[in-house]
Amino acid sequence: MKVKVEKYPGLSIGSNGHLCFSGADCVRLAKQFGTPLYVISEDVFRDTCRAQRAAFEKHCPDAHISFSTKALTALALMRIAVQEGLGLDASSPGELFGALKAGCKPENTILHGNFKKAADLEFALGKKVGRIVVDSFEEIEELDSVARRMKVRARVQVRVNPGVEAHTFELLKVGMLDSKFGLPLQNGDALEAVRRILKKKSLDFMGVHYHIGSQILDPSPFRIAAERAMEFLLTLRREAGATVRELNIGGGLPVRYDSRHPMPTPEQFARQVCGTVKKMAKANGLDMPRIILEPGRSVAGPAGITLYTVGPVKRIPGIRDYVTVDGGLSDNVRPGLYGATYDGLLANKAASAARMKPFRVCGRHCETDTLFQSLRLPDPAYGDILAVLSTGAYNYSMSSNYNKFPRPAMVAVSKGKARLIVERETYEDLYRKDLPEGKG
Ligand code: LLP
Repeated sequence: MKVKVEKYPGLSIGSNGHLCFSGADCVRLAKQFGTPLYVISEDVFRDTCRAQRAAFEKHCPDAHISFSTKALTALALMRIAVQEGLGLDASSPGELFGALKAGCKPENTILHGNFKKAADLEFALGKKVGRIVVDSFEEIEELDSVARRMKVRARVQVRVNPGVEAHTFELLKVGMLDSKFGLPLQNGDALEAVRRILKKKSLDFMGVHYHIGSQILDPSPFRIAAERAMEFLLTLRREAGATVRELNIGGGLPVRYDSRHPMPTPEQFARQVCGTVKKMAKANGLDMPRIILEPGRSVAGPAGITLYTVGPVKRIPGIRDYVTVDGGLSDNVRPGLYGATYDGLLANKAASAARMKPFRVCGRHCETDTLFQSLRLPDPAYGDILAVLSTGAYNYSMSSNYNKFPRPAMVAVSKGKARLIVERETYEDLYRKDLPEGKG
């Protein structure tokens, strides 16, 4: 089965039969910048930012979109997200540092994490972070003491666990009760957390946060989670006299990893969430909370592809044929970690009429690093360029130096032009922090 290139935004096939991304010839990009290469379409990235804003602002005009930088932690792209009017979400002090370095206003940043240490909280408050999402009773106490010491007031949201089952990979489900994240709604912990926050002068209770999982293909868990959250808002009013100004619904919108699958639109999610929140607020005389969305994958994923050079093609008659590429586990851990699947095609043979045959595509790490269990390719050969699609999210940001492979470069393409936005690591970079003689 041929990949339906037209299903992927920004992709096209040039008159020379080469795959093009945002008008740039992928074969030329590979030659110019080397492989493996992360290629991000600035045009698609801007479009995904705009599409999320448009969808949510249509249904909730004061909605705020905060890009989850964990999906693609590159300064140039965080900067573009800011230009597009998005805030930036950080899951660690390191990401917060990057968000600020990328030019995000401190008040538009959000800090997450299920164990933020005192030093992390101090760092964030020192940088005037916009919101801290607290995730435990211990954190409430820690944040209170740090804020008092620093003589500042911390604006907080409480991460609750709505106990919703979202259909996605096992490790990516986090809203069900059996999870390390969030204070459960069911057993009263979430209510107790808000009560404690309200008693602390150093803490400014802004709202409620939840995140039910990632790559959620069906919008209905979003509706159910929003209903449970709104019930909680009513409980908070009744039991604690608390006003909830913000409802942060996390991320989770999906991206296309297979050109044959149908894809829900951001608007379908927006309609479910905003419709539910509006209806329940109105029915109960509750002020409408400001809706905050933290998309990561759905902003970055479609904007990226990865280019590899094909190496040896190994044929084992009667068993299987292998195609090796010059990357793998260290630049895309997702197939190994989650069993994630992608679409891929040969960029230099995108219009080939040769018969497609299945190949196992593996990387060049010193273990069985399978990128594709089975990918149909037209007569792959040494030196071809393989493009893996929809790799913009959680590829670069989860990359490693396993086997001491330098991380790939990243280029941004727009209207046919390319610019380098992350340099390829050097061998020197790989040992920069080593102290061969020891110290101290
Ligand atoms: N907000 C919070 C609190 C989150 O924990 C996450 C993702 C997001 C927002 C963004 O979710 P998204 O829109 O990207 O689904 N490494 C995994 C994904 C882990 C997601 C963790 N949290 C992967 O490669 O699939």
